[in-house]
Amino acid sequence: MSFQRNRLSAADIKTKRDEPAFYDCLDSTLDYCWRLFQAGVTDRQCAFHMPTLATVRPDGTPSIRTVVLRSVDPDRRQLRFHTDIRSSKVGEITEQPRVAVHFYDAKSKVQLRIDGTASLHHDDAAAAKAWRGTRPLSRQCYRVEQNPGTAIADPTEAFAPSDWQDDEAGRSNFAAVTISFDALEWLYLSAHGHRRAQFTWHDGDMRATWLVP
Ligand SMILES: Cc1cc2nc3c(=O)[nH]c(=O)nc-3n(C[C@H](O)[C@H](O)[C@H](O)COP(=O)(O)O)c2cc1C
Repeated sequence: MSFQRNRLSAADIKTKRDEPAFYDCLDSTLDYCWRLFQAGVTDRQCAFHMPTLATVRPDGTPSIRTVVLRSVDPDRRQLRFHTDIRSSKVGEITEQPRVAVHFYDAKSKVQLRIDGTASLHHDDAAAAKAWRGTRPLSRQCYRVEQNPGTAIADPTEAFAPSDWQDDEAGRSNFAAVTISFDALEWLYLSAHGHRRAQFTWHDGDMRATWLVP
């Protein structure tokens, strides 16, 4: 697999029938998935930059929200996002680490869905490294005094002005979440015929199959 380029260009689209090279090829399809993930990390304009994360609440009901894709590790099949340790999703992941993530890019007409297991990093080296990579503006989110989701009478209550001075304030509320996935489902929409594929990994072995769209 090659992950040389992060950005997707028109040169990626070659074909018979004006379809992308991955159209009838499972290997190229998987390769393209990784390139979309990489583009999601590096290109803020890419739709893959903001996937939807699904967790399960303790009462069994589903819960979804947008997160920012921060990194991808093809060798470990891992994605990472950042969050506030006090947020509801962290409690949900602690109770039930099985999660799903949804991506859709209207430009490439690709939907990806992954099933995986989330791991929380708060006081460890992974969290420290992730925190060092955050920008000052992103750090501000972690400085709110009350837990995210707390009902407040006045929306300006959420920040104390002194919080803005200390760049490290908020570190104790910061968490990195990695999602190791074992199933990835692809859907590509085309007037020539949609393509749906599934990739699963069991003990290091990958299985790939086309599915009826
Ligand atoms: C564009 C966008 C990007 C977001 N990125 C993140 C993120 O990276 N991490 C995060 O915890 N919340 C992010 N949020 C907020 C979540 O969608 C959500 O509202 C919040 O985390 C509370 O979720 P929870 O109560 O389910 O924990 C983002 C929201 C939007 C609209």
